[in-house]
Amino acid sequence: MRTYLVTGGAGFIGSNYIHYMFKKYGNEIRIINVDALTYAGNLENLKEVQDRENYIFVKADICDKEAIAKIFEEYDIDRVVHFAAESHVDRSIKNPEVFVQTNVLGTAVMLNCAKAAWELPDGSYLPCKKFLHVSTDEVYGSLPEDETAFFYETSPYDPHSPYSASKASSDLLVKAYMDTYKFPANITNCSNNYGPYQFPEKLIPLIINNALQGKKLPVYGDGKNVRDWLYVEDHAKAIDMVQEKGRLFETYNVGGHNEKQNIEIIHIILDTLQEMLPADDSRKKLVTYDLITYVEDRKGHDRRYAIAPDKIKSEIGWEPETMFKEGIRRTIQWFFENEDWMKNVTSGDYQKYYEEMYKTK
Ligand code: NAD
Ligand code: DAU
Repeated sequence: MRTYLVTGGAGFIGSNYIHYMFKKYGNEIRIINVDALTYAGNLENLKEVQDRENYIFVKADICDKEAIAKIFEEYDIDRVVHFAAESHVDRSIKNPEVFVQTNVLGTAVMLNCAKAAWELPDGSYLPCKKFLHVSTDEVYGSLPEDETAFFYETSPYDPHSPYSASKASSDLLVKAYMDTYKFPANITNCSNNYGPYQFPEKLIPLIINNALQGKKLPVYGDGKNVRDWLYVEDHAKAIDMVQEKGRLFETYNVGGHNEKQNIEIIHIILDTLQEMLPADDSRKKLVTYDLITYVEDRKGHDRRYAIAPDKIKSEIGWEPETMFKEGIRRTIQWFFENEDWMKNVTSGDYQKYYEEMYKTK
């Protein structure tokens, strides 16, 4: 049975990936999920799989060398899928240090421990051993508004926020391990994900949550910044396909072919909520365009991201499958059916975060 070590599996993309993998492979695989359970990690995301015999949760910080080395000693790990990171740009602007700690140092610990466990005396590795580093399109910086400009795997790194600088550093460490030790790895750089279990500090769940409560919808700057949105399950599939079919040592960009301005996203969410809420639902009258509130811009706000996922399509056969109209309906439906999840994650610390983050906006 193949054993996966997933880091950050209690977060948004990690938990969706674990669900995807169990749906696809069932009892053919075993997953060890290591997560420090920061504000962004939530074991509720995994309650459907927690009793499986082939799922093990280990609470540990990826910066803790001993704890990570122990996992490699205890389990014969074949694949690492490394999601764990501090992931929110706004938080990185307020407090960059923890981003360097987790994203850079934590990745170094993961690489070191995997290398120590996997490297054979002659410096080679068994073919079953593979490390996948999950990264972001933000490492490439910002594109002009010209719709013919895209990020490619060959685009130069030009990160602007502390978050993207820390992810770029972690990518370069992975590249250094591949070049120096022939360490068997891949990097994927993905665009903006959306879907179930996303923490409501990010644009889409924040807008859904605020709109349903008739609260202001904060739009940074002129609302015309462009992001390329990908349904999270399509991302999970891409990660699996890269490990199964990708060439080792290669980077693959993963994108949704779905560029939209932030203000368009907000309009689509409001229209879709209106369509989906039953006529007698009291929230229907709260959901209006009047909630849209332009606020101070994000510092260093990247204007446009867009990925041309040509390489992953031609080499591996992956393509985004979920149209935005369908993906956003599924996401909203999930939030309707999981109101308690939203209540639980937005109680306590989230309230403090929200007041602090938006007080000057
Ligand atoms: P998330 O913030 O929802 O989840 C991060 C998870 O990592 C949480 O479960 C958290 O508890 C865990 N974690 C944080 N610090 C840790 C530490 N020191 N040790 C162990 N666990 C720790 O993030 P996400 O949106 O699911 O993103 C996952 C990965 O995908 C990140 O590496 C991110 O950079 C990358 N990515 C995200 C997007 C996106 O749109 N969300 C797009 C491209 C790439
Ligand atoms: O591109 C991939 C990246 O996408 C990932 O690497 C990051 O982990 C992920 O958080 C995401 O980063 P963004 O900064 O693009 O996502 P966010 O949801 O924070 O913001 C999306 C856009 O919406 C961005 O232009 C800022 C804007 N925004 C965001 C919030 C939270 C608003 O206008 N208002 C808001 O309240």
